[in-house]
Amino acid sequence: MTDGSTGGPGGLPDLRVDQPHTARVYDYYLGGKSNYEADRKAGDQVMAVWPGAPVAARTNRAFMHRAGRVLATEYGMDQFLDIGAGIPTEPNLHQVVQDENPRARIVYVDNDPIVLAHARALMDSSPEGRTAYVHASVTEPQTILQAPELTRTLDFSRPVAMSAVALLHFVPDESDPYACVAELVDALPSGSALVLSHGTGDFDPEAMKKVAQIYKSGGTEAQARSRAEFARFFEGLDLVEPGIEVPHRWRPDVAGGARIGTGQEAVDDATVGLWAGVAVKP
Ligand SMILES: C[S@@+](CC[C@H](N)C(=O)[O-])C[C@H]1O[C@@H](n2cnc3c(N)ncnc32)[C@H](O)[C@@H]1O
Repeated sequence: MTDGSTGGPGGLPDLRVDQPHTARVYDYYLGGKSNYEADRKAGDQVMAVWPGAPVAARTNRAFMHRAGRVLATEYGMDQFLDIGAGIPTEPNLHQVVQDENPRARIVYVDNDPIVLAHARALMDSSPEGRTAYVHASVTEPQTILQAPELTRTLDFSRPVAMSAVALLHFVPDESDPYACVAELVDALPSGSALVLSHGTGDFDPEAMKKVAQIYKSGGTEAQARSRAEFARFFEGLDLVEPGIEVPHRWRPDVAGGARIGTGQEAVDDATVGLWAGVAVKP
C-alpha cells in the first residue's frame, strides 16, 4: 500500500471530518456507515435538489458490476485497474469479477484517506487471485502506473480493464482529465478496456448545476459533462454495445448481473443523471 496521506494524530490518516468528502457523501447515499456529519449535511443538501442521488448511486454500482461481469466473461479479462474505487461496499469489484474468474487480479486506486483507511476490506481476494491498493490521484497517471503495488500485481503485456466509475466529474477541465485518461490508456496494451460513468446535466441541467455548486461550496470541484464531452474520453477506442448509454440501459440483462435501475426498480434518466460506457483498445 502506498502511503501518501498520513498527517492525523498518531500517524493515522487525517480524515478532515469537518468537511464533506465525495467518497463519504457517496457512502451516505448508499446507506453506508463510513460518513460523518459534514458528509451527511452535504448529502442532504444534494438530495434536496436531486432526490434521485441514492438511486443514482445504486444504479451506478449495478452498472459497474455488470460491466465487470461482461469483461470477465465475454472478453476474458482477468486484470482490473479500478481508479476512484470508493469506500468498500459489498460486493466490491474484485468480488464480482472473481465470482466469474477466481484468478482475476484487481488493483484499486483512490486519493481519499478514508478509502486508504478501509482498504483492508478490499484485500480479501480469492486465494487464486490477488488485490492491491494504491493511494494516488487519477491526475497523476505516472504515480499510478509506477506504483510497486500495481507493477507487482498486473502484467501490462496482457489486457487490463481500467475503470473510473463516477470519478471524472470530480476532475475539472483545468486538471485536464482527458489527458490523464489518455496517458493511462496509452500504457495499456491492445485489447484492454476502459469503463466509465460520469455525471451529466443533459437530463436536468438546473438540478445538476445546483449539485455542482453544493460540492464546490464544500471544497470539491465538480463538473457535469454532456454526452459529447463524455464521449471524448473514449476517443481512439472501440465502444462496445450498446455504446454510450444511461447506466440502467447498459446491458441490463447480463447473467448474474445486478439489476438495480434496470427493471426490478424503475428509474428514469433524470433521476440517474449519469452517462456510462465501455470501450476496448484496438
Ligand atoms: C462517487 S465515488 C465512486 C466510487 C466507485 N467508483 C463507484 O462508482 O461506486 C468517487 C470516488 O472517486 C474518488 N476520487 C475523487 N477524486 C479522485 C482523484 N482525483 N483521484 C482518485 N480518486 C478520486 C473519491 O475519493 C471517491 O472514492
